[in-house]
Amino acid sequence: MTTEMQADTRAFQAALLDAQTRITAHMDMRLGGTDRLHDAMRYAMVGGKMLRGFLVLESARLHGVDATAALDAALAIECVHAYSLVHDDLPCMDDDDLRRGQPTLHRKWDEATATLAGDALQTFAFELLAADHIGPQALVLIRALAQSAGKDGMVSGQMMDIAAETAGTPLTLDEITRLQARKTGCLIEWSATAGAVLAGADTGPLQAYASALGLAFQIADDILDVEGDASKVGKALRKDETAGKATFVSLLGLEPAKARAEELCDTACAALSPYGEEAAILKDAARFVIARDS
Ligand code: IPE
Ligand code: IPE
Ligand code: MG
Ligand code: MG
Ligand code: MG
Repeated sequence: MTTEMQADTRAFQAALLDAQTRITAHMDMRLGGTDRLHDAMRYAMVGGKMLRGFLVLESARLHGVDATAALDAALAIECVHAYSLVHDDLPCMDDDDLRRGQPTLHRKWDEATATLAGDALQTFAFELLAADHIGPQALVLIRALAQSAGKDGMVSGQMMDIAAETAGTPLTLDEITRLQARKTGCLIEWSATAGAVLAGADTGPLQAYASALGLAFQIADDILDVEGDASKVGKALRKDETAGKATFVSLLGLEPAKARAEELCDTACAALSPYGEEAAILKDAARFVIARDS
């Protein structure tokens, strides 16, 4: 790694850490409650990279959006993402015991608590976005989140994923690309475009950035499943092959999958050209996504 690249990475790492700190403090302020349900919701929210929340804050910064509105949107998407992981880990889905280096929520408490904490995180996200101070763009953001998270978005991708596991015939590259665009891509696209939506600006460049980034992110997840160090990733690995799942790695091979992730990273960065130097941190985020070890 060149000195210049290290400097870039440091700037991005500092911005990501800052986003994590601010979103966590915002959650402490907004969530309230000390009962079992609130404790479980908080547990589900901590320990992640908060990449989606970071994308919201960074796209908001690019468009000069009010900081509190941006933080509410960042917190909202982290709530939806956390809910998706809590339900994804349930015994009826992926049946996982470890998430973010800690016992999964249903292991820490029980399945009913995990189901309900996931439900409550999802509705809380929409409550955050419906706050009066978000302004006239709130409805646009809410509609887009319902679409990105729901029956034609993340949940649909999860359904396709589960269906593929039981179907017996592995998916083709086209099918897996469509599946991942929904399962992972939709929430990443919502996150990266949220700032432009809040400002009522053109979402085109950020949409193009996020669509390449989302796919690169999932290829990196598939590569980590094969090559990752479980103590760093904080979740069970080598599950895809054991489950006989078609992934970008199983379909393309490891090295071509890495090359595809690189190409997508370049595509993502090129899409940001209208923002010039202002988008340097988002470009570094794309490089982080394909080089990450967790
Ligand atoms: C994991 O997402 C689930 C996928 C969509 C592949 P992240 O890798 O962003 O998980 P956290 O939030 O950092 O734990
Ligand atoms: C789940 O995908 C992504 C969600 C929409 C929750 P995976 O099942 O591959 O995610 P991990 O590997 O458990 O984080
Ligand atoms: Mg899954
Ligand atoms: Mg899983
Ligand atoms: Mg995975």
